[in-house]
Amino acid sequence: MKLAPSVLSADFANLLNSCKKVENAGCEYLHLDVMDGHFVPNITFGAPIIKSLRKDIKMVFDAHLMITDPDKFIPDLVDAGCDIITVHQEACTHLHRTIQNIKSYNVKAGVVLNPATPVETIKHILPDVDMVLLMSVNPGFGGQKFIPEVLEKVKTLRKMIDERGLDIEIEVDGGVNSQNIKSLVDAGADVLVAGSAIFNNEDIDLAVMNLRNAVKG
Ligand code: DX5
Ligand code: ZN
Repeated sequence: MKLAPSVLSADFANLLNSCKKVENAGCEYLHLDVMDGHFVPNITFGAPIIKSLRKDIKMVFDAHLMITDPDKFIPDLVDAGCDIITVHQEACTHLHRTIQNIKSYNVKAGVVLNPATPVETIKHILPDVDMVLLMSVNPGFGGQKFIPEVLEKVKTLRKMIDERGLDIEIEVDGGVNSQNIKSLVDAGADVLVAGSAIFNNEDIDLAVMNLRNAVKG
């Protein structure tokens, strides 16, 4: 299991310091929620802030784009140092084209599904992606309640991927905590995003350890 702390719940005035803490705690990915106030009802940050963090952070930069027209921002996000760029199926009129666009910059490409979007809708794009991100909250805000129906989606998607022998990571994002993380990993999730479950704690090392221990059961 890989952990992807979402900086959305970090203290933005001390962002680099927070990122260093999760890096030192052994987290593999840094989950970067880019929001445009249009596709989702919130605004966060974009390429300039990601580029500043890149200078001092070695973790895999996992950019989750919650934006209406992702293609427009991909060159800047690649230049900022993103390693994986995921786009919403619901935001892309020509998803195949957008995925190919991301891959043309030699970074990994992924597709994100909102809680109500069935996994069957991405059957034909699976061979083209490196990651599928399943939302377990409605995107836009940190600290929301986990939607348990996503567990069934993880299981179905795991089966779809394994049956075809594809090399795709399943990431789950939203409301992940020490109570539900084991069920997600057991269902077949590879990468778990955690915002408030990590950053809403004084002791980041302890929060990360609690999540890892919860998976061991
Ligand atoms: C929600 C974001 C998530 C969020 C997760 O739109 O995509 O990455 O920050 O935060 P928690 O873990 O607090 O639900
Ligand atoms: Zn996210």
